[in-house]
Amino acid sequence: MYSSLLIEKENNIATLTINRPDKMNALNKTVLDELDRAIDELNADSSIRSIIITGAGPKAFVAGADISEFKGLNKEQAIAMAEKGQRIFKKIEDSSKPIVAAVNGFALGGGCELAMSCHFRLASENAKFGQPEVNLGLIPGYGGTQRLVQLIGKGKAIELLITANMVGASEAKSLGLVNQVTSAEELLSETKKILSVINTKAPLAIASCIKAANAVFDETKNGFREEVKEFGDCFGTADMTEGVNAFLEKRKAEFKGK
Ligand code: COA
Repeated sequence: MYSSLLIEKENNIATLTINRPDKMNALNKTVLDELDRAIDELNADSSIRSIIITGAGPKAFVAGADISEFKGLNKEQAIAMAEKGQRIFKKIEDSSKPIVAAVNGFALGGGCELAMSCHFRLASENAKFGQPEVNLGLIPGYGGTQRLVQLIGKGKAIELLITANMVGASEAKSLGLVNQVTSAEELLSETKKILSVINTKAPLAIASCIKAANAVFDETKNGFREEVKEFGDCFGTADMTEGVNAFLEKRKAEFKGK
């Protein structure tokens, strides 16, 4: 079904692994198309409540867009390529199910952009983040200039963008680019541990949190109004009734996502 992705499903968590380890999991056209399709498929799969994106092998999460596909592209083709990448990464950012990046090595260029489009990030101690596009006479095209500023602030973001410097996992954590650093061995189990907690919460409320938080950076929306709307919508859900009843009856809530 997929030639460059592996998908494992366990305990309502899907682990999506980008599987081109001999090319540092670089994002070629096939990977992007499959990622596009896989996110739709997992969002439609009622057995799945949350998603992990990671890379195959011990060295790389994703070392960027596939540079070999840049050769010979004209300006119009380059614009189409960036628009397509941005659309897919926005789909990840707007996913109603939480998507977490488990960054297991190099997250460079499009790899850093992919990690930043996820809702949050864990990293192994050997992870390295960077936007090295200026080394190629380029800039990020899959949302990197925007999301890096959003996540770590403009001054540090511009420094990283124009020096092409990489930052290691602990610096990435101190910058707010990653939430937690683990050993390489524990990266997936720690990520799953967090998601198994998230999976016990009300899915529609989780989706509303994501929507309201994303509205901060959407100039077509007023985030506070969005929050009021989502707050109101929660009151129409069976999960909200269940959550409130469970609290009052001193029992654990069983959320159905309805
Ligand atoms: N696109 C295409 N191929 C890539 C790639 C990319 N972004 N990143 C790595 N590869 C390929 C290499 O060409 C090499 O292929 P080969 O074995 O057929 O020659 C293979 O992956 C292994 O990479 P290599 O460079 O030999 O590994 P390394 O451990 O010496 O270095 C990196 C690792 C990640 C530092 C280095 O590969 C790199 O700088 N990659 C490009 C990063 C980048 O500029 N990304 C932004 C793109 S816009």
